[in-house]
Amino acid sequence: MRLSLGIQCVAALLSVVTGSVAADSSVYKDPETGFTFSQFRAEYQIGKYITYRIAVPASVPENSSYDVVLQVIAPVAVGWAGIAWGGTMVGNPLTVGWANGNSAMVSSRKATGHTTPSAYPSASYTLFKTGTRANSTHWQYTVKCSGCTSWGSTRIPATGTQNKFAWAFCPTKPVSPSNNQSSFSVHESYNYWTHDFSTATNVNFASLVQAGIGKRAVEFGDLEW
Ligand code: HEM
Ligand SMILES: *[C@@H]1O[C@H](CO)[C@@H](O)[C@H](O)[C@H]1NC(C)=O
Ligand SMILES: *[C@@H]1O[C@H](CO)[C@@H](O)[C@H](O)[C@H]1NC(C)=O
Ligand SMILES: *[C@@H]1O[C@H](CO)[C@@H](O)[C@H](O)[C@H]1NC(C)=O
Repeated sequence: MRLSLGIQCVAALLSVVTGSVAADSSVYKDPETGFTFSQFRAEYQIGKYITYRIAVPASVPENSSYDVVLQVIAPVAVGWAGIAWGGTMVGNPLTVGWANGNSAMVSSRKATGHTTPSAYPSASYTLFKTGTRANSTHWQYTVKCSGCTSWGSTRIPATGTQNKFAWAFCPTKPVSPSNNQSSFSVHESYNYWTHDFSTATNVNFASLVQAGIGKRAVEFGDLEW
């Protein structure tokens, strides 16, 4: 007991001395989509995790907006899982996802208070054909988001090492899983983390997006290609 406490104290002291604080995320290379993600595993119940992965394009000019790819993996016991792009419930883009048949649904939201967040049309999402599924144990989605990294005068630095995020978890499924405007009940747990975008850079971001969205881009009405 005393020994482990001692080691923690030394580690804390070292980080104060060097001024370096590591982000809570780590690097994950996804063989399925080809992206290099920076990932965070949120412990939503003791020993149970939801994984949040983010991939970023290379060479984003300072202060400019940019798309990201988000991948979320959750056990079927997760009714909905949310990510807050500015690290708070209120006043920043929220991405809320849940299982929908053998696929997943993503909903764009923003909250003005601690009540059900409303639709947020300033962020748009293109679901991937690759890396999106639901089975008897998990559901997972991979999605491109345009509008998740800037809102108002805030811009998430594309190579920021300490970007602030929050997650929320609810065991209850939304009322109408096939409807992205569905209502859902309040979270059972939430927490905060810092995400390192500098390790999530992908030089081939655009081509990996094209490959991942495949034919589904047309089905979802994305005429960009
Ligand atoms: C039905 C929808 C929701 C309701 C009714 C709701 C309600 C609330 C309430 C009442 C609190 C305050 C808790 C406290 O002070 O102990 C809170 C905090 C919080 N909620 Fe939600 N929430 C909802 C959806 C979401 C979603 C989708 C997210 C997405 C990540 C989220 C993230 C958070 C976070 C991070 C906090 C901590 C305090 C803060 O950042 O403002 N919530 N929520
Ligand atoms: C980016 O924004 C910051 C804060 O507003 C500003 O200080 C900086 O000059 C901007 N950089 C560029 C290249 O516009
Ligand atoms: C639902 O999907 C439509 C069509 O893709 C989109 O225009 C709308 O913004 C989405 N709404 C939400 C709340 O995600
Ligand atoms: C179910 O989905 C999860 C998440 O995508 C995946 O890791 C797992 O291999 C899948 N299970 C089966 C039996 O395909």
